[in-house]
Amino acid sequence: MSVYRISQELAELGKKRIADFAVEGFVWGSGPQSPALMLVGEAPGENEVETGIPFTGRAGKELMASLEGIGLEREDVYITSAVRSRPYKWGEKRTRSGEVVKRKYNRAPNKKEIIAHAPILDEEIRAVKPPLIVTLGNIGLQRLVGREAKIMQLHGTLMETPILYWDEDSGAFLETQESYHIFPTFHPASVFYNPSVREYKDADWEKLGRLLRNEVNE
Ligand code: URA
Repeated sequence: MSVYRISQELAELGKKRIADFAVEGFVWGSGPQSPALMLVGEAPGENEVETGIPFTGRAGKELMASLEGIGLEREDVYITSAVRSRPYKWGEKRTRSGEVVKRKYNRAPNKKEIIAHAPILDEEIRAVKPPLIVTLGNIGLQRLVGREAKIMQLHGTLMETPILYWDEDSGAFLETQESYHIFPTFHPASVFYNPSVREYKDADWEKLGRLLRNEVNE
């Protein structure tokens, strides 16, 4: 199965565009040229920057379990996100010996960072032409559908809609001519912060499985 990767030039451009922000590393999107679906997350975290592979931390385990539940593996899907570098903020942590040390914490990417890496996600979508895009959390959803889109309202619904791409000339996100199938669901890490989300997230994945088996027509 052939694997798709953006060009080195585009990756370098992305690194340059985001260099002035508090981010580190660059994790390439990864997956087959013709995936069953494309997953669009938020941004890599500490683990992913270390391994160089998307969703390899705790959220990754949760996501892989959801995929397995619908008969898919990592190799079957294209995994990417709104931003390909890890946004961080400095914070303090008390060690076991009581010492206070500074460390980096993950944070959500901001609008400028999302714009900096927008050409990467746009190119991945153009090149892979995924039959279905599953957005994970509000960041991925809003990047593609707009700021008004809210995960709490839209999760678990199959949308057929134009998506947003970054237009450098006008300095704005514009809508594509073509429509895409988008299925929003929660970010896999959301269940760690809000366990009541698990019920909704699991129901979304069950529905997604039925959609892929053509058992639901929306
Ligand atoms: N969240 C994401 O959106 N991507 C990762 O790779 C890890 C966590």
